[in-house]
Amino acid sequence: MKKVEEYYAPWVKGIPMYISSHIELAWRNPNLHRMMSNENPLPPSEKVLDAMFKYAKMANRYPDQGLVVRTKIAEMNNVDGPENVMIGNGSSEVYDNVFRMFIIPQQDEVIQHTPCFGIYGLRGTLLGAKMVSVPMIYKDKLLHFDPDGILNAITDKTKIIAIANPNNPTGNFMETKDFVRIAETGIPLVIDEAYVEYSGLGMSQVQLTKKYKNVIITRTLSKAYGLAGMRFGYAIADKDVIAQISGSLLPWNVGTIPMWAALAAFEDTEGLAERIKFNNDAVAFISESLSVIPGFTVFPSKSNYILFDCGETGKTGKEVLAYAETKGIILRGESKKYGSDGWFRVTVGSKEENELFVDTVLEFFGMKK
Ligand SMILES: Cc1ncc(COP(=O)(O)O)c(C=O)c1O
Repeated sequence: MKKVEEYYAPWVKGIPMYISSHIELAWRNPNLHRMMSNENPLPPSEKVLDAMFKYAKMANRYPDQGLVVRTKIAEMNNVDGPENVMIGNGSSEVYDNVFRMFIIPQQDEVIQHTPCFGIYGLRGTLLGAKMVSVPMIYKDKLLHFDPDGILNAITDKTKIIAIANPNNPTGNFMETKDFVRIAETGIPLVIDEAYVEYSGLGMSQVQLTKKYKNVIITRTLSKAYGLAGMRFGYAIADKDVIAQISGSLLPWNVGTIPMWAALAAFEDTEGLAERIKFNNDAVAFISESLSVIPGFTVFPSKSNYILFDCGETGKTGKEVLAYAETKGIILRGESKKYGSDGWFRVTVGSKEENELFVDTVLEFFGMKK
């Protein structure tokens, strides 16, 4: 008799449950300052809460496939209609749906542009893809996109190219002309716009979906809308592509409450504007306050996090993280790269948390009396 282990699909063997240890830690210790997971520090607006309560009372009913909210998303993005939109439990689920409709296990490759969000690799690997990482270029204290590097990494096994715009953790946008060059290859191109609302939908590449059937835009309500715990994300693409990808959806995958609360969030344009202003002011405050430290690189961010490289100060990112921890602040570490071990990332917190973070970092680098 064979052992049960021998029956697992070879490419999933040994893959553990994904656990964000810092998120687990933060839920266990509510007094800690959660400045590590690109969450929104502001709680949901009254309008969103009202929708949650209203539909909580109907939680005995199965949801539909989100026709009303998908129609709203289509309108907001100037695409034809709900047939251009697929919804999921956060955009992380959307990648799963997209990836599983393209990837042939143990055969195909997925290109990602690193450093980047980890879920592409996690889902790609689970679904049997080989991940191909193309590094961004570190030059003149900026991390630049490398469209040529991406084009050069394409092989006849490339099934998907995933690029976040703006990218996490670097916080910058790639230019439209470079997306066009990549889209022209015909290879499915997933443009992850998780943070685009901080700059406005005018920065979206959604118009490319009209010309290029291979372009898929993903978005989430976890960031500027501040609904990470609710789990709601979506994809926008050509209707035939959405129809095919939607074949992988679990029936009733998005619950009644998140679906209608998402609609309320989209309608609450004031609530969104307030969150965007709060965030963008905070990013400017943190970036300016810390740019005085000699040898300390602050990456310009169009998102709700900021990346730093303190390699030239002689300190490591780990040391900054450890010092911040003594003040109850959880930051996000980054692996050693480009010859520097000075990387770390902060997520915008409340006004008080941002001040505490700035004071803590200045103090650590001996800039504060
Ligand atoms: C680039 C990027 N895409 C997507 C997400 C995930 O969002 P969701 O909560 O919609 O799964 C994140 C979360 O940090 C992210 O950084």
